[in-house]
Amino acid sequence: MQVNIPLVKTIDNSYNITIDTLPKLHFDKKVAIITNPKVSGLHLGYLLNRISAKELYIITVPDGEEYKNQASIDTILESLFNHQFNRKSMLVAFGGGVVGDMTGYAASIYQRGIEFIQIPTTLLSQVDASVGGKTGMNNSYGKNLVGAFHQPKAVYIDHHFLSTLPTREFSAGVAEILKMAVTFDKSFFDFLKKANLSDEAELLKVIQKAVETKAKVVALDEKENGIRAALNYGHTFGHVIENETAYKTYLHGEAVAIGMVMANELAVEMQLMSKNEASSVKSLLQKYNLPTSYKIKDVELFYETFFLDKKSSDSAITFIVPKNIGDVKITDQCSKALLLNVLNKFGAVDA
Ligand code: GLY
Repeated sequence: MQVNIPLVKTIDNSYNITIDTLPKLHFDKKVAIITNPKVSGLHLGYLLNRISAKELYIITVPDGEEYKNQASIDTILESLFNHQFNRKSMLVAFGGGVVGDMTGYAASIYQRGIEFIQIPTTLLSQVDASVGGKTGMNNSYGKNLVGAFHQPKAVYIDHHFLSTLPTREFSAGVAEILKMAVTFDKSFFDFLKKANLSDEAELLKVIQKAVETKAKVVALDEKENGIRAALNYGHTFGHVIENETAYKTYLHGEAVAIGMVMANELAVEMQLMSKNEASSVKSLLQKYNLPTSYKIKDVELFYETFFLDKKSSDSAITFIVPKNIGDVKITDQCSKALLLNVLNKFGAVDA
């Protein structure tokens, strides 16, 4: 016997990403702003001048990737229960990628799902993490291994917040912008070669282009069954670097930058990219003060660590390799010999 539950439905999860000075926002419901002490100290006043709600609460979680965990999620959930939030209530993610991912995840599980909006305050979260509905937290098995796809209701990108961003964090955000240019848009890549991101107008243009690129990809493949995986360019290698250095040496965007150099080396070996193109990507990363070299101490161990990544399935690891500049190939067909050959280039001497 079979009982069928007919659940075919069309859900419109579309939302707008506003790139402008934060407008006045009012919500006729209970709202909690989730933030960390650093962002709150610098920018909460600015936000509170522009946001109001029937009831407004502020929940603070500790700052840093090491706190992107169950304890912080519990802090958020407990506070929501204490203030009797219901399914009509809403969360506001106010911070970088860590706050954004955790707020989205808490919103996805609180009473089986409530709304949230994103107000990202770092370049990396403005151009990448806040867009597309990936939410989650880390655990002892690795980064972002627990989470949900839960789209925000809106994203507000205000470059005002970038005025206090440390230079290193700014560059780390640029890495994710370069990632989108190399994989999807040669003219964007050429523009970035000449761009001056200290110029506000150019910076806004670049943020807009990166967000448009990401929005197109997410619209095509929301749940990462295909092309969205291309946004992981540099990440398969980068996550191993972050893991090997215990998340202490490199910011995420910096590890991704080195990962892009490694992925390009793989692309050159696979004859998908010329050496000249690989070195032009490396030069662009260097222009934005991103690291491009890494010494692998144990090549076999580096290779084994690939398998901790959630993008690996059974014995196959998915690699994102550029096809020239502006196009990309997603493959799980790289042999161990090929990968060890690439990794060895970073083993003996700094590449
Ligand atoms: N950060 C990659 C993605 O959102 O798919």
